[in-house]
Amino acid sequence: MKFKKVEKYTYVEDKHKPYLKELSEFVSKSEYLPKYHIYPKSGLMNDPNGLAYFNGEYNFFYQWFPFEPTHGMKHWGYLTSKDLLTWEEKDIALTPDMEYEKNGCYSGNSIEKGGLLYLFYTANYKTENDRIPKQAVAIMDKGGNIEKYINNPIIDGAPDNMTGDIRDPFVFRKGEKYYMLLGAKSKKEKGALLLYTSEDLLIWNYMGEINLPIDTGYMLECPSFIEVEGKDVIILSPMGLEKEELKYQNQFSTVYLVGKLDIENMKFDLEYMDEVDNGFDFYASQAFYGKDNKPMMVSWFGCGEQDLPTDKEMWKHGLTMPHTLRLVENRLCNFVSEELNDLFNDKNEFDSNIIKTKSNSYHIKFNMRKEDENKWVRFGYENDYWELNFDFDKNVIQVDRSNLKLKVDINNGLKRCAEGLNKEEYKVDIYVDNSFVEVFINEGMKSFVFRCFNLNNEEHNIQFTHANKGSINYYNK
Ligand code: FRU
Repeated sequence: MKFKKVEKYTYVEDKHKPYLKELSEFVSKSEYLPKYHIYPKSGLMNDPNGLAYFNGEYNFFYQWFPFEPTHGMKHWGYLTSKDLLTWEEKDIALTPDMEYEKNGCYSGNSIEKGGLLYLFYTANYKTENDRIPKQAVAIMDKGGNIEKYINNPIIDGAPDNMTGDIRDPFVFRKGEKYYMLLGAKSKKEKGALLLYTSEDLLIWNYMGEINLPIDTGYMLECPSFIEVEGKDVIILSPMGLEKEELKYQNQFSTVYLVGKLDIENMKFDLEYMDEVDNGFDFYASQAFYGKDNKPMMVSWFGCGEQDLPTDKEMWKHGLTMPHTLRLVENRLCNFVSEELNDLFNDKNEFDSNIIKTKSNSYHIKFNMRKEDENKWVRFGYENDYWELNFDFDKNVIQVDRSNLKLKVDINNGLKRCAEGLNKEEYKVDIYVDNSFVEVFINEGMKSFVFRCFNLNNEEHNIQFTHANKGSINYYNK
């Protein structure tokens, strides 16, 4: 098909719809498409936004530039699901068609009040050399009608010591009050977390910066706040953390803090912190309460600026599966939400060192034991595979993409590690979905989210060092 070039800040109007339809038909022929991960019909998908269980269903929004696989004019795409298994694609929820959001409807979250879902977002507004930070709200009723608030922006401009980079409102309720976290860059070029408060979700007052006892890099994006098993958890996406031997290897990082948010003293009493995930393609997590108030999280299946083989196919990135959050010894565990196991109904057991798979969409489960001297497992073909390996002595688990023919994001390295599990045996759950892979160790004590572009033929081999037992359940919805 013939691609049309659009100006970077073009928003979708009716006149574009026939072209976008043609584009999505082109994308639907891509050899790298997943079956059970959310991905864009065309163009670029990034952060999950406004995640909510509202009106008896899951409402997921996401950052979307539909015209090209680049970071252009951001819209809020929208999907709903009753069960997290089947998704219904809805019309675009937020189109940046107002002057105050002339450079895009950026990320934010949502909160329910009085039977309405309030969608908070950053109205991206660029000046010649800077940005004027503006936060906005749109209100959705139970019929799915969305209206931008007439007095938007609800916050306009930056506090004194902050730059124009302030974004990604995350609103939550504590007691009788609402609070909004915002990610920011201070004039001293440090990541900052700002707090506002409101009684009605419309009028907001600035409270100041929350003192965080961690390295915040040069900018914080996408804050989240959630209570998990009685503790406060903050999730942040800092930019510019220095790479350590085994940590912070991606262009940008996502970290969690467990402890207590002390609003009175504008500080976070930290008990534990770590990276949320150890994979190559993970960023901008958003936490939310699912059905029955279950603490959950979805993240962008991507990170920063990367060239990917799907660029020429006119789509890029996706979202992780929905994850459930738990705390184990103050560690934040994120594991695929149990509902999703119903996607894998073709159940099989194995006891061997090589499995020939029936397809490239499955959930494989096995244990790795120190005593068995089983050191690695490989996914792919003889000279084209990715590997998960286990160093029991050092207690390090590694994902290695160096034996793939088609390598991506090489500048940020080909291996990723997780350390400190301290076990003689690891429980491993791997969800493969063509080019989308999610690995979980010990039910989410550690995880690796990443892309691999080698399984685009239907079947391949999974090979262990020695015979191993386990189950492989294929996607067959
Ligand atoms: C994070 C981010 C957010 C911003 C959005 C724009 O990936 O940069 O800070 O709101 O993406 O798409």
